[in-house]
Amino acid sequence: MGQPLERRKYLPAEDTYLLKDALRSFTGDACLEIGFGSGAVLASVAGRFRLAVGTDVVSLEDARSARLPSLGLVIADRAQCFRDGLFDLVFFNPPYLPAWPIEDLAVDGGPTGIEVPVSFLGDALRVLTKEGTIVALMSDEGDAESFLSHCSDLGLEVDSTIRKKLFYETLSVLILRRNRDAEI
Ligand SMILES: C[S@@+](CC[C@H](N)C(=O)[O-])C[C@H]1O[C@@H](n2cnc3c(N)ncnc32)[C@H](O)[C@@H]1O
Repeated sequence: MGQPLERRKYLPAEDTYLLKDALRSFTGDACLEIGFGSGAVLASVAGRFRLAVGTDVVSLEDARSARLPSLGLVIADRAQCFRDGLFDLVFFNPPYLPAWPIEDLAVDGGPTGIEVPVSFLGDALRVLTKEGTIVALMSDEGDAESFLSHCSDLGLEVDSTIRKKLFYETLSVLILRRNRDAEI
């Protein structure tokens, strides 16, 4: 048997604040955050949506201490527990550090750092309405170029990108929507 997976709560950091900033002008009916961590991003958005929910694989104790009433928080894998086409906004700051095997679920993103983000994106698309928006944080610590080309293979348009250069990595927030004629 390998090492048990760590399920620690991710404390707000630069990536958290950048995602929070990028979401400032979003309003709508229903939104989902995949990987709510401390709850800081979801809490900042929740008041502008009629329904705001988050999923994470943290412990029940950590979910209880997140900054939101437990009602909107679900301990579940990505968006697996939701039916298709529910949310007009889905956002995530996924684990994106290249690491294999995955030992720390808060930060390890798979061999090139995009395997976990790609799995978040796939689920996000499934639960997104046709006209909905996905807001995804990525870092050049992972293979961000391949993540972008995966988005375009899926028929997603990158509407805009917000970047922040830190001394050890560059963070980007991607705002993704389906192409008008995409079948996904
Ligand atoms: C980089 S942290 C971001 C946390 C928080 N959203 C923030 O911005 O501070 C990534 C989060 O994704 C969660 N996570 C990892 N795998 C997951 C999965 N399969 N389903 C849901 N959440 C997951 C981790 O537990 C962690 O809280």
